[in-house]
Amino acid sequence: MSGPTPPAHCTFDPEDWLRLARHWHPVARSGDISSAPVKATLLDEQLVLYRIKGDVVAARDICPHRGVPLTLGFHDDEGIICPYHGLRFGENGRCNRIPSSPDQPVPAKLHLTSYAVTERFGLIWVCLAPDSEQPAKLPTMPHWDDSGFQQINCPGFDVAGFAGRQVEGFLDVAHFAWVHTDTFADAANQLVPAYNPVETDYGFSVDYWSTVSNFAAGSPQQAPDGFEWLRRFEMHLPFTATLTIFFPGDAA
Ligand code: FES
Repeated sequence: MSGPTPPAHCTFDPEDWLRLARHWHPVARSGDISSAPVKATLLDEQLVLYRIKGDVVAARDICPHRGVPLTLGFHDDEGIICPYHGLRFGENGRCNRIPSSPDQPVPAKLHLTSYAVTERFGLIWVCLAPDSEQPAKLPTMPHWDDSGFQQINCPGFDVAGFAGRQVEGFLDVAHFAWVHTDTFADAANQLVPAYNPVETDYGFSVDYWSTVSNFAAGSPQQAPDGFEWLRRFEMHLPFTATLTIFFPGDAA
């Protein structure tokens, strides 16, 4: 395989890794990244994230001098600092200080291996292996900029499983009557009416119509008898899904 290569100890098949590495992936909430180094793992690549002069840097979490993880280090106003010999890395991951030899020009090999990074939807997105001929697009979330909606970034949590399985669970509607009966679902309403996913340029979209209410069980607010709820799932490859729920009175 030419071009970008998987990290050492990668658990992915190399071709799968490259397919996934072509996409943008969220790695942290924007509000959680400041000038201090923060660790993240993306497709088995160990990353250090930090913010300098307003911009986020996402780089391989390895000091190019002797290989120490930079997330063990420190920071000041000019960058993050390796805890072993104090090399400092600033804008774009460039080394800007060698304490033991401050007058020496900094060789290029001491700059960090940094990755494409962008901020959107309150999240930091990283692309490990951009494809210049077919640049990856971020998912679309039109309500993010709509003042009629609340914008919330929930804290992340670790899932000991593949991201594909996690998003599959989000798209699954047959488990409502078995898993969500303490909230919105009805154990007696198990039928899944037929629905048809439509392929899109970002993945697929599906309109799922059913009588499963989205009002909480026992809530004084309930839909009229027989009301058919529309849930619109949109799958943005590889691992982002959105769900729009149309309540009684909403236009589809
Ligand atoms: S290992 Fe990082 S400065 Fe030497």
